[in-house]
Amino acid sequence: MAAEAEARLPKAAFDYYAGGSGTEWTLAENERAFRRWVFRRRVLVDVSEVDTAVTVLGQRLPFPVLLAPVALQRMAHAEGELATARAAAEAGTTMILSTLSSTTIEDVAATGVDRWFQLYVHRDRGLTGELIDRAVASGYRALVLTVDTPQLGRRDRDERNGFLPPPGVDLAILTSTTGGLSQQTGAGGGSSLFAYFARQCDPSVTWADVEWVRSRAQLPVVLKGVTTAEDARRAADAGVAAVSVSNHGGRQLDGDPATIDALPEVADEVGDRLDVLVDGGVRRGTDVLCALALGAKAVLIGRPQLWGLACGGQAGVGRVLDLLRMDFTLAMRLAGVTSTAAIGRSLVRRAVP
Ligand SMILES: Cc1cc2nc3c(=O)[nH]c(=O)nc-3n(C[C@H](O)[C@H](O)[C@H](O)COP(=O)(O)O)c2cc1C
Repeated sequence: MAAEAEARLPKAAFDYYAGGSGTEWTLAENERAFRRWVFRRRVLVDVSEVDTAVTVLGQRLPFPVLLAPVALQRMAHAEGELATARAAAEAGTTMILSTLSSTTIEDVAATGVDRWFQLYVHRDRGLTGELIDRAVASGYRALVLTVDTPQLGRRDRDERNGFLPPPGVDLAILTSTTGGLSQQTGAGGGSSLFAYFARQCDPSVTWADVEWVRSRAQLPVVLKGVTTAEDARRAADAGVAAVSVSNHGGRQLDGDPATIDALPEVADEVGDRLDVLVDGGVRRGTDVLCALALGAKAVLIGRPQLWGLACGGQAGVGRVLDLLRMDFTLAMRLAGVTSTAAIGRSLVRRAVP
């Protein structure tokens, strides 16, 4: 689907979606690392009935795949985040709406999808507080604080393309207050998003702000972007409800480990205290199975939803979710496990190099 999406999208849009930071080593590593784990499947298990459901933040999901926050989806399809939301609702899963969405908080809420809101803390704390209040008022069930982005990673493709969304597409949640991306064309002619982030978003965010977000929202807080046991423990001590082991799809610190390799230390540290999620490079049902075996409750997918959206709008995102669900069910059967609760560390081992 990525190839078809590439053929359909303008180069700058595809590059923005597909690209990573620096040498794109971490971006590639996220997918590659799954191939370094192999399964220890069991045989002669009755797998005629397989239960793919999981519980995340106290809510049952029919299968362990959520939609990661992904900015500016209307570059992929005219209906953008609305199409994604409707597909998620139809599949019975949760959508995480990005602060940098090209559709408003309220319009996505009106689709009725089960929803969490992803927050970038802006320098203007009044504005940030208003974002939280709008999400709460619109029935978002959790706040996802992204903690791997004190500044935007340098993404050479976007710098070279002078990335700026096409006319009519902008940061719908923020244009009225910050002017959005169309105001950001700086003298350098580089990425408008890099310039926006540097001007508007706050690099001084610390653990103290986690508490501020938590008390302002009175909702479960998910920290997205944790990759070490130390930070996971700190997150648990700070009272967050979940962490997502994430390197932002290889778009932030190039040289971050693949998330599937960082997952075990986080899950070992805090898996008994909060929900551990993981995102980055999940493309197949076997990747989902591997992630659950290494301690994740569920995974988030980023780019696959964009490729589905670009190829077929709501139906395209729906198809991606269907394929992943079918592929995950198949992987469970072939591995000899009948419920997600039975998936554990003994199901995988490191491949012999
Ligand atoms: C085009 C694009 C935009 C993204 N925008 C956001 C965002 O606004 N906020 C955020 O927390 N993460 C954002 N992410 C990161 C994703 O939430 C997720 O961590 C990542 O895409 C997972 O890796 P994958 O694309 O390999 O599945 C974005 C990722 C992509 C590819």
